[in-house]
Amino acid sequence: MDKINSGNSLLDISDYYIPLDLTEVFKNKKELVLEIGFGDGDFLIEMASMHPEKNFLGIEIKTKRFKFAVKKAEEENYENLKFLHMNASIAIEEIFPKNVFSQVYINFPDPWPKDRHRKHRIVNTEFLQKLSKILKKDGILEIASDHKDYITHSLDVFKDISFFKSEYPPPGFLHNVPNRPYTKYEKEFRKEGREIFYLMFTNNK
Ligand SMILES: C[S@@+](CC[C@H](N)C(=O)[O-])C[C@H]1O[C@@H](n2cnc3c(N)ncnc32)[C@H](O)[C@@H]1O
Repeated sequence: MDKINSGNSLLDISDYYIPLDLTEVFKNKKELVLEIGFGDGDFLIEMASMHPEKNFLGIEIKTKRFKFAVKKAEEENYENLKFLHMNASIAIEEIFPKNVFSQVYINFPDPWPKDRHRKHRIVNTEFLQKLSKILKKDGILEIASDHKDYITHSLDVFKDISFFKSEYPPPGFLHNVPNRPYTKYEKEFRKEGREIFYLMFTNNK
């Protein structure tokens, strides 16, 4: 990666032993929140500024977006925000200890709308099983999407995983959630008048 002005928001895991001790990374024991696929980082930066009482960690696979978010975060000095440049499927299996996160967000995951590409959807049984291990008991997983088929697909996947319990009444989604910053994609979709779907599950394992 080109040299970037990393300040303190870039998490370089080669500086630490694995599994990562996140109390060492953040230098405190605050509640931990994870965002998977943070894109340009808008949501996480706003969450970090709204909730100084929590620590926020984002994982993004695309270099350009990762760099953009790191640069943007450097405009302020957030002690409670770290960005990790990595494939989340590997990160959630390999680098975190069990039962560490209180909350996980997957905001507007790539929809992979074509039938032959559905296998690439990040919300799948294997991924959720791995995720449940790093999510605390009673920890919360939130998913947002503008893609109705992705939401139907996700609800089907969750049906087969008994320990994730939906927090929303049937049909299992809401169209608005209070006190939740918009992500970059969400701002664009809302401007276009698209319907947004939010899912929320607790980990009852
Ligand atoms: C449709 S974009 C949404 C970005 C952002 N969450 C938003 O709502 O503005 C999906 C993001 O997930 C990232 N992503 C996809 N698969 C990933 C993976 N396995 N690990 C980490 N990030 C991933 C993509 O690079 C992309 O930035």
